[in-house]
Amino acid sequence: MEKKTRFILNYDEVSTDVPSGMVTLDFLRRNHGLTATREGCREGDCGACMVLLGELRNGGVLYRAVNSCLLPVGDLRGRHLVTVEGLNGPALLPIQQAIVDEGATQCGFCTPGFVVSLAGFLLSSPRWDQDAAMDAVAGNLCRCTGYLSVRRAVARLCATLGTAGPPSSQAERLSLLVDRRLVPPNLKMISRRLAALAEPPSPGPAEGGTVAWVAGGTDLFAQRPEELQECALHFLSQDDELRGIRVEQGRCAIGAATPLSDIEDSTELQACLPDLQRCLRLVASRSIRHRATISGNIVNASPIGDLTILLLALDAKLTLSDGRHKRTLHLSEFFAGYKKINKRPGELLLDVHFALPRPGTVFHFEKVSRRAHLDIASVNSAMLAECEAGVISVLHLSAGGVAPIPLYLARTAQTLLGKPLTASAARSALASAREEIAPISDVRGSADYKRRLLERLLIAHLLRLDPRLEEELAL
Ligand SMILES: Cc1cc2nc3c(=O)[nH]c(=O)nc-3n(C[C@H](O)[C@H](O)[C@H](O)COP(=O)(O)OP(=O)(O)OC[C@H]3O[C@@H](n4cnc5c(N)ncnc54)[C@H](O)[C@@H]3O)c2cc1C
Ligand code: FES
Ligand code: FES
Repeated sequence: MEKKTRFILNYDEVSTDVPSGMVTLDFLRRNHGLTATREGCREGDCGACMVLLGELRNGGVLYRAVNSCLLPVGDLRGRHLVTVEGLNGPALLPIQQAIVDEGATQCGFCTPGFVVSLAGFLLSSPRWDQDAAMDAVAGNLCRCTGYLSVRRAVARLCATLGTAGPPSSQAERLSLLVDRRLVPPNLKMISRRLAALAEPPSPGPAEGGTVAWVAGGTDLFAQRPEELQECALHFLSQDDELRGIRVEQGRCAIGAATPLSDIEDSTELQACLPDLQRCLRLVASRSIRHRATISGNIVNASPIGDLTILLLALDAKLTLSDGRHKRTLHLSEFFAGYKKINKRPGELLLDVHFALPRPGTVFHFEKVSRRAHLDIASVNSAMLAECEAGVISVLHLSAGGVAPIPLYLARTAQTLLGKPLTASAARSALASAREEIAPISDVRGSADYKRRLLERLLIAHLLRLDPRLEEELAL
């Protein structure tokens, strides 16, 4: 029999035995009548179903806006779930007042989602500026307002925050927000109540039956939500050992269940990979990145997985374990064919690790999709390169959307390694890439279009190494 899931819903403790794979959106609307959390696309695309998920972190509670249509109830264990009803008080919050004052609501269907996303921005964004606030609502769609009024409401809210930025400790941030009446005061009581709810991590699911590892669930619950209600689920994000970013002795190890937003916000990674934040902003929306993990991106083996393409160019390695034996293999060896991976039954991906780029290394990522934001790639590609005395001494290239697997362009890189970057060397590399790829025509473009795209992306990488090539290649 499945163990009950205990958590706090708004300000009440809940203990439920609904299937752990039921999505939180349904649980809220059907089992609790909390219908301000709206049902739109059920695929993580519209933001109407946004809720806050709070968990104990560094002595405080870290709240993040997440899409409840992709959030399984089993993963609420020991956490605080806040809906817009839980944010409401006797008077409108400044977020809500700004939306009213700027006419940023018309039919109102999307409005609870915007309110929750902006509350999440206040509670967890590393910066309190307008750019970060707009990114926080990038996953919220509105059919009525045309967004200009939303932009004004966001600007109005940010103007009340001042320029000092959020305090670094979660507890201090919460106190400040409560003192300024930006979030409800009851949130201050939650950390103690969550500590009292804490349970030892459960062991993995028993052998047999259909078992699924759930990391962020953003892929699983978008693809097969009904089927997952019947499975025994094991929630990797509940295991602290699988989360976190460790940087030591020139290497970085990222726990498999680390959400992408943690990677995006890591100051240690920003110091070595200054462009990484821009790259990650091209992946889904901030609310999806709060849940989506690095291991889900790799194990789902999508030929266009953005993180996978970034990590291939970082020449990353994986640590896998079946509970008895650990093994390490290059990410480039992990993909065996379309959606076929080099993973034994029962093997869990523990972490991803890579050497940190040295000063002077050029790391560059390009993604082309039909929409600039909130869209998956038609073709994506990354490059990591080092030059010594005008000669390319290190080069890793990757490309997505041009083969059945996320491709490590080994032969293309080989044509340039140990050579000065001349126009003729660049042309040889492009010819080699044409041989190495095998794109197909699909909804994201014809095979010929993808070939041409990849060629342009490779040129964009090489121009980062030497902008003079533009003239020499007569572009
Ligand atoms: C709205 C939306 C937008 C998206 N946009 C993008 C985008 O722009 N770019 C992009 O690349 N992707 C995108 N995705 C796809 C998806 O969100 C990402 O691939 C994400 O990284 C998947 O991670 P997850 O943790 O949610 O995976 P999950 O759904 O939890 O898991 C995916 C698979 O991996 C397995 N798995 C997970 N972790 C492990 C582990 N440690 N060991 C063994 N098996 C494991 C699971 O069992 C499952 O089979 C989008 C998805 C949505 C819903
Ligand atoms: S219902 Fe659209 S994002 Fe959840
Ligand atoms: S106000 Fe109608 S969808 Fe946004």
